[in-house]
Amino acid sequence: MLDLPLSDPTARTKFRRAILKWFDANQRDLPWRRNRTPYGIWVSEIMLQQTQVATVLDYYNRFIKRFPTVSKLAAADQSEVLKLWEGLGYYRRARQMHSAAQVVVEHHNGKFPETFDEVLALPGIGRYTAGAILSISLDQKLPILEGNTQRLFARLMQLTDDPKISSSQKAMWLFSESLLPKKRCGDFNQSLMELGSEICTPKSPDCEHCPVINFCPTFANQLQDKIPASSKKMKYESLHEAVVLVCRSPASKKAKYLVRLCGPDERWTGLWDFPRFELPQGSAKSINNKSINNRAIDSKAINSKAQLATLLNQHILKTTGLQVETSSTSIALKHAVTRFRITLDVFQTSTVSGRLNKTNGQTYQWATIDELKLLAMSTTGRKVASQLPLDTA
Ligand code: ADE
Repeated sequence: MLDLPLSDPTARTKFRRAILKWFDANQRDLPWRRNRTPYGIWVSEIMLQQTQVATVLDYYNRFIKRFPTVSKLAAADQSEVLKLWEGLGYYRRARQMHSAAQVVVEHHNGKFPETFDEVLALPGIGRYTAGAILSISLDQKLPILEGNTQRLFARLMQLTDDPKISSSQKAMWLFSESLLPKKRCGDFNQSLMELGSEICTPKSPDCEHCPVINFCPTFANQLQDKIPASSKKMKYESLHEAVVLVCRSPASKKAKYLVRLCGPDERWTGLWDFPRFELPQGSAKSINNKSINNRAIDSKAINSKAQLATLLNQHILKTTGLQVETSSTSIALKHAVTRFRITLDVFQTSTVSGRLNKTNGQTYQWATIDELKLLAMSTTGRKVASQLPLDTA
């Protein structure tokens, strides 16, 4: 392991004092910091894994207002939980929170557990989240390591390796543990995250205002631009998909659109989506049939949008029992989700006949534009829905 700059106990004491003093004077006033319950901290930490504090604020307030206790969350329909999560992304986390709340009700009498092992055993909670929940809400002496602290520690340790590799992770967890004070562990952990988020930023860190500048070898050696080392770039896969707006009575205000509930193992499990099909354009290898329920178009080559429309008509008939005529619209969306880069072409039906046949085990419903607003929809489905009705002139 590296020779840590803070291996000297006196230096560590000074470091803790300096960072806590800075936190007391500079911490942001955040709703989950006002009344620190394990439940509230859990909700905030899961949301903060998705996105920035500024975005989380509204989501957090709405979520806690609707589900003020873990029991209220457990009793809710998954669809409502997903609706409140809509736009945050990574819906699996919301589903896991919902399951974890049910475990808390069933196995812990509705009281959020207070030991590390019990918290860690809940769905969707790893070492970081368990440590954050119990240290922040109950001052338990548990270390944390997430994006902000990883960057801060890499600089304090002058770690030249990729912070994501296991030897770096191991060294950083040990470092995090070695820094913990006897008291105020929750504030201390938050001060580390706050410093990482507000001062020790990825680009152009504000070293001038850093309370622990004197402990930072990376600053001393002016290596802020090189540390942390950048991790290997994620390999993205391109997907090309077609969305079909199957619309009944398109000219009237009561126009209804066909939507399908995405099943287990799909990209948008538990969310509603317009009928969607994968297209074989681009790299054939990149097409992951499972991701949209084996709804891949298996034609080797599609030369024109008209040809594609014919294939979509056949697929709609096969999967729903409805006879439709589709044509391409002017909407084409691009969307990035996890490792996928999706290009979406939107088709709209001009005629619909026949009966909706639900026998393939799929759940469909017809929804007006207003009803679509109330459903939890896939991210790209919502983008399309927000443009309805399409101008068909
Ligand atoms: N990022 C994740 N959790 C955080 C917290 N509790 N405070 C500041 N930033 C964070």
